[in-house]
Amino acid sequence: MITDIHRARERALADIAAARSLDELARVDTATVGKRSQLAELKAQLGSLADLDERRAAGRQLNDAVTALTGALAQRRVELAAAEQAQQVENERLDLTEFVRPAQRGKPHLVTQAWERLEDVFVGLGFQVAEGPEVETDWHNFEALNMGVTHPARSDFDTLFVDHPGAEAGRTMLRTHTSPVQIRTMLAGTPPIYIVAPGRVFRRDTPDATHMPVFHQIEGLVVDRDITLADLAGTIEAFTQVFFGAGFTSRLRPSYFPFTEPSGEFDIRTPAGDWLELGGCGMVHPNVLRAGGIDPAEWSGFAFGFGIDRMAKERHEVGDLREMFTGDVRFAEQF
Ligand code: PHE
Repeated sequence: MITDIHRARERALADIAAARSLDELARVDTATVGKRSQLAELKAQLGSLADLDERRAAGRQLNDAVTALTGALAQRRVELAAAEQAQQVENERLDLTEFVRPAQRGKPHLVTQAWERLEDVFVGLGFQVAEGPEVETDWHNFEALNMGVTHPARSDFDTLFVDHPGAEAGRTMLRTHTSPVQIRTMLAGTPPIYIVAPGRVFRRDTPDATHMPVFHQIEGLVVDRDITLADLAGTIEAFTQVFFGAGFTSRLRPSYFPFTEPSGEFDIRTPAGDWLELGGCGMVHPNVLRAGGIDPAEWSGFAFGFGIDRMAKERHEVGDLREMFTGDVRFAEQF
């Protein structure tokens, strides 16, 4: 009997130590000290022990065992309760830490930067900023610019036509240059006019290192009394020095555009002595003034236009225009 009590006590202690949760411990509790436990059974058998001393000794052992097990159960309960509470706190923990990451600020694209600086410089020279639509009529893009339907210069512009309901076939297009803004500005107001018009233009070109089918130009138009070629040359030179720096200078070379007469191309010279072609320019053709509702006997003017992307390309020594439009941040971050 004593041995049985001892075994039962040892097994019960082991079960109590092994309980992993309060639920499990409650089952162990019933099984070790409950009414149907082995100890309870042994207690019931006490009466059948004939020897009084043995009965007394066994009774004491049983009481000791129950006391020990009750104590062990209570201690284990405290441990498990603490562990379960800690686990619950951990599970319900809210991470309220605010991570302040190093600020990652974006910045304007190289072309946007150039566009905005060009506007700033021309505004500083007294120009206003004008704009026009990217989808143009044949009249604004060509005809009013002294390029009638049969004008051979039209073939210099690889035009992308727009096909939409109501559009006369071949008469609506993506503007091939910013020059139609000259016409729109003249029609919208009266001289004196001093505007620049930066914007997106389109030509049917296969992309290569120096051509993109979508690119950007900035147009300039001045119409006032007694405007001469000297005003044009002086404006280009002033712009060159403000925009590129005092070490730069400019020159005009004779050229041809249907909408200016005389026409020129203008180049800038870097401090190292290299010449870069920048754009076209000239005195506004009388037919263009007339198309804009302005009397060429009273007013005269000059116009110029050049590519923003190509200028930025040269200025920042970008090898290939296409690089600018791949959207690769490693490229963009350099400027
Ligand atoms: N529109 C011309 C072009 O795209 C440039 C230009 C503008 C030339 C104004 C003369 C005057 O090539």
